[in-house]
Amino acid sequence: MYPDMTSKSKALYDRALTSLPGGNTRTTVFMKPYPIYAARGAGCRVWDVDGNELIDCINNFTSLIHGHAHPVLVEAATRQLALGSAFGTPTESEIDLAELLAARLPSVDQVRFANSGTEAVMMALKAARAFTGRPKIAKCEGAYHGSYDYAEVSLDPNPADWGSNAPVSVAYAKGTPDKVLADVVTIPFNDIDGAVSLIREHGRDLACVLVDPMPNRAGLVPADKAYLEALRQATREVGALLIFDEVISFRLGHHGAQGLWGIDPDLTTLGKIIGGGFPVGAIAGKREVMAVFDPRHGKPALPHGGTFSANPVTMRAGLAAMELLDQNAFARLDAIGEEVQRASTRHSAAMVCRAPRSVLGRS
Ligand SMILES: Cc1ncc(COP(=O)(O)O)c(C=O)c1O
Repeated sequence: MYPDMTSKSKALYDRALTSLPGGNTRTTVFMKPYPIYAARGAGCRVWDVDGNELIDCINNFTSLIHGHAHPVLVEAATRQLALGSAFGTPTESEIDLAELLAARLPSVDQVRFANSGTEAVMMALKAARAFTGRPKIAKCEGAYHGSYDYAEVSLDPNPADWGSNAPVSVAYAKGTPDKVLADVVTIPFNDIDGAVSLIREHGRDLACVLVDPMPNRAGLVPADKAYLEALRQATREVGALLIFDEVISFRLGHHGAQGLWGIDPDLTTLGKIIGGGFPVGAIAGKREVMAVFDPRHGKPALPHGGTFSANPVTMRAGLAAMELLDQNAFARLDAIGEEVQRASTRHSAAMVCRAPRSVLGRS
């Protein structure tokens, strides 16, 4: 493919090098020798600026669960655009989406909207600190939760940092203050004894344990139910909150990963699919914890603004996306997923069988 079919992408990238550092705005979409620039998308297909048609297997990092430019979402967003895209007042749209999310997620009474998953995780960690009055957070080694400096500790540790049941907290980005590292307890993923003993050791200072039930940078390995149950029990024991990061895993089922695993976190972070293709994040949880945001009695324990938080274009597109994603849609997705899994197993078996023949030049 490189470079002939994408010469316009190369030209755009060369142009971008002047005005964007490394020609790039999102580290995650960078690739060498240059990224392919998208021109448009429809359903599961994307056309690049050279007119090549591609099957999109990433759908903006899982955020477009209905594919590109779904007509229902286009209609919902454009109808709202014509009425105004953002106001210095609340709109009914945020109530509609919050009600839908609270109805779907077993642990959720109330929702607070933000503009990205990163912001949702940041506010959830701050909410846990505000609620408990404790400084430390615990998170799993290797798990990705966006770009808040506490949340990205030990995202890509070296083997020397892995430790034995007690990983060392290491900075992901240069410039992370040592104080941040001191306040992050890195726990081993899917290791009950290792995680629980660290939670108990730091218990008195621990505001929360943050866990993604299927951490994508740690190989999309699902958490064992017993591991999540142990985190639930240990956090209750030490008086810390349990936070599920469902920015991606909410797509696993109609009631999210927490519904599938049958675990009841105190707070949940959401993003991606709940915005219908627009920037979004949300912190959701039990009423008593969410009260840290409540402004009715003066300055809340945790003030939280956001010029574009809960903007009605995102809310309306998100609501339309969630309404389309009903039980039937999940059943269809599951059936497709199982078929792809079966086919890829057959395919890899066939590849294994064929490999020796091709090595011998007989295929
Ligand atoms: C589990 C998880 N949490 C948080 C985030 C951050 O979300 P955003 O990219 O919207 O800031 C991501 C993004 O991929 C994620 O996968």
